[in-house]
Amino acid sequence: MTQAATYNPVEIIRKKRDGNVLSDDEIRFFISAYASGKLPDYQAAALLMAVYFSGMSEGELLALTDAMLRSGEVISLSDVPGLKIDKHSTGGIGDKISLHLAPAVAACGVRVPMISGRGLGHTGGTLDKLESIPGFSTRLSISDFRTVLRRTGLSLIGQTDTLVPADKALYALRDVTATVESIPLIAASIMSKKLAEGIDGLVLDVKVGSGAFMKTRDDAYQLASTLVAIGRRAGKQVTAFLTNMDQPLGRYVGNAAEVLETLQVLNGQGPDDLIELTRVLGGEMLRLGGVVATDKDGEARILESLRSGEALQRLQRCAAMQGAMIDLRDPNEPWLKSCLHQYPVYITAPEAGYVSAIDAEAIGWAGVALGAGRERKEDTIDPAAYIYLDRKVGELVEAGEPLCHFACAPDWPEGRRERAHALLQGAYKISMTPPAEKPLILDVLR
Ligand code: URA
Repeated sequence: MTQAATYNPVEIIRKKRDGNVLSDDEIRFFISAYASGKLPDYQAAALLMAVYFSGMSEGELLALTDAMLRSGEVISLSDVPGLKIDKHSTGGIGDKISLHLAPAVAACGVRVPMISGRGLGHTGGTLDKLESIPGFSTRLSISDFRTVLRRTGLSLIGQTDTLVPADKALYALRDVTATVESIPLIAASIMSKKLAEGIDGLVLDVKVGSGAFMKTRDDAYQLASTLVAIGRRAGKQVTAFLTNMDQPLGRYVGNAAEVLETLQVLNGQGPDDLIELTRVLGGEMLRLGGVVATDKDGEARILESLRSGEALQRLQRCAAMQGAMIDLRDPNEPWLKSCLHQYPVYITAPEAGYVSAIDAEAIGWAGVALGAGRERKEDTIDPAAYIYLDRKVGELVEAGEPLCHFACAPDWPEGRRERAHALLQGAYKISMTPPAEKPLILDVLR
């Protein structure tokens, strides 16, 4: 048996810091050592910052993705009938799409095995949203993941100590060390999770704009092409959409609050932007899954699964199998009325006019300040903290009317509450003329 090579981690950090190319073995050594707890956070944080500044070659990126993927088990779902298709977003504010998209796609006959992440930087995470549902567990064993997938058509879980543990550890570290906005780190994080889940195809939602990690279309395009190239190299069907994240999706930001908004969509209502994105991403997932001939046919099927309540039934079946203690279909469920903090604070318009822009990143950081995200690795999420956007871009407001409001725990530290208040107050721009309309779907790479 050949012994794996060992290296001095400081030398690896220095090499990357100085802009040199790491070998596959050096990358494998570092990732495996960190994922198994043999390297401290400070050395991993230093390497992440070096990658943030120096970037990675294509070869390094492939080695990093592979090392992260192989840090745990790689699931084979070949015994589960039908094509398995997933969707992943590069991170946004108010992006609760996965919560209703996965059951809608499953209701149309395509299986969705989904490994998601927690909140990252100023963006929210599917796992934190799901875990705001009382009892819902995202920490299933691989065998339970398969059982839920077989029985309900979907399963929604996170990285574990056996499934992409390197991403679990690095993701949490990037979240609190300002090392998120790096194309190689994002690409390896997403694709290691997606290649571990045994999928046949993937639809990527690559966000662009003030609330996204990629602020410009050029950067988003580069990230999308990188993700698509890694997926295709691994033999998967991959489509990437570039979508607008210049303002939050929907009206709610916050974990339980976003579950409430998802339930609106699953009850055939909900904001137009959420419906449009769900329709487009879902239509493409059904096309890749081979159950429709065109994405347009798929879009019609997705809308029907939301309208008919089939998607909601699916989510309830999956949630019940994953431990949820409430019935998401019941409009009289007490949790629905009690899951948000009381006594909202309003941010009002200083003058009348049109909302011409919203700094979505500032809204995201305000959410973190209120406890909807983490400032330190060990922070726990407050699922009941939320922000509601009373006005969105293009809408009219009179002086003194609310732009948005927020609520947090009654004993929440005053400094953090004030920080959120200031961020929200500065996030809105008002003008006398209506802003130009921007499409939600900006581009697609097929
Ligand atoms: N989603 C992920 O899974 N990882 C990232 O780095 C960004 C978004």
